[in-house]
Amino acid sequence: MRLKRLSLQNFRNYVRLDEDLPAGTIVLVGANAQGKTNLLEAVYYLATFASFHARHDRELVNFDAQQWGYPAVARIVAEFQREGEARSRVMEVRLILEANGNGGVRLRREVLLDGLKKKLTEALGVFNAVLFLPQMTQIVTGAPELRRRYLNQALSQVEPAYARTLAEYNQTLTRRNALLKLLNEQGGDPAQLDFWDEKIAQLGAVLISHRAKALYEWERFARVVHWKLTRKQENLRLRYVPAYNPLAGQLLQPDNATLARFSEDALREGLREALLRQRGEAIARGVTTIGPHRDDFRFLDGKLDLGVYGSRGQVRTVMLSLKMAEAEWLEARTGRKPVLLLDEMLAELDQARRSDLQAHLAQSEQVLLTTTDMSLFDPAFIQQSTVWHLEQGRIVPPDQA
Ligand SMILES: Nc1ncnc2c1ncn2[C@@H]1O[C@H](COP(=O)(O)OP(=O)(O)OP(=O)(O)O)[C@@H](O)[C@H]1O
Ligand SMILES: [Mg+2]
Repeated sequence: MRLKRLSLQNFRNYVRLDEDLPAGTIVLVGANAQGKTNLLEAVYYLATFASFHARHDRELVNFDAQQWGYPAVARIVAEFQREGEARSRVMEVRLILEANGNGGVRLRREVLLDGLKKKLTEALGVFNAVLFLPQMTQIVTGAPELRRRYLNQALSQVEPAYARTLAEYNQTLTRRNALLKLLNEQGGDPAQLDFWDEKIAQLGAVLISHRAKALYEWERFARVVHWKLTRKQENLRLRYVPAYNPLAGQLLQPDNATLARFSEDALREGLREALLRQRGEAIARGVTTIGPHRDDFRFLDGKLDLGVYGSRGQVRTVMLSLKMAEAEWLEARTGRKPVLLLDEMLAELDQARRSDLQAHLAQSEQVLLTTTDMSLFDPAFIQQSTVWHLEQGRIVPPDQA
């Protein structure tokens, strides 16, 4: 997959940008607060229709454009070429801030593919990108919630069926929790839970099965990259950790390979039994205590949990390996290489890791990466790259930078 042209209008600090993009690596260089990360955010929006750090999408619309009243429109237009397709495609996203009639504003989003309006769900997954941000190391070290969200997003981009099952699971969970609360407060026949348990078990098994298979595949790719980046020092493993033991009656937690071999039927039975066993506790607490919404996954080097014991550089390397693995997995699944978007990826890495990473990136179809400091890169890497100097939301010629 290759982005050939990008236009931005009123997107964050880009009032207007119109630029052709070459294949290979593009280095976005500039001082702090010039719009390096914003540009990656714009490209990533085309793949996910969600911002990775705005709390509300309305933050994406340029402040000045909002000064003159509403509607105010931010626009991302991208021309891109997918593998095996003769013609390139054009995707346009419009973020329209308009008056809601009650004195406030609301945001409406429109997506057009080759000039035709599409539902967001129809356009999802047409353009593929993988993003690394420095704060993503929290996926390794932070709360399980972050890892679940990451896994859900990555899987949804590749498998629309996963996204649908996830939405249905979450709705079912809300209903079951409401009933648990009612049973807790007012009593009643716990057998009313049978229907919801069956549904949770059925949908949950699909989610767990997809996740275990994906992690099993990611691990295969991630190990190889991580082995390279750590110069054969670390043996990275990813382990899915369900909130209950799906192999009912056995003490050991199964590894990913075992879990991935489990049929959905077996996982459903295991989850249904576990829900039944935990029923008393669930009613007492008024929430569903097990299921994929409580599962976790961990990053191990041998037996060492890197999320707990990893150094900063180690954790960063793990996250980068995982991102490279995600890209390879996406390609294996879809036949398309995603555009790589890497924010400040070299910071905190030692010289050897920086060099190995640059060597690894040389094989990519297209990479956009940001830096405040060009000296972190090998001269040979810069020579093969296109360098864009960014200043206040504009690309400036090098002699003016
Ligand atoms: N809606 C918006 N309208 C106008 N400007 C915005 C908007 N949202 C963010 N900005 C501005 O964009 C700038 C930040 O851009 P960005 O995060 O891309 O910087 P950066 O070049 O990545 O900097 P750093 O090196 O610090 O990471 C900030 O100055 C911020 O005020
Ligand atoms: Mg930045």
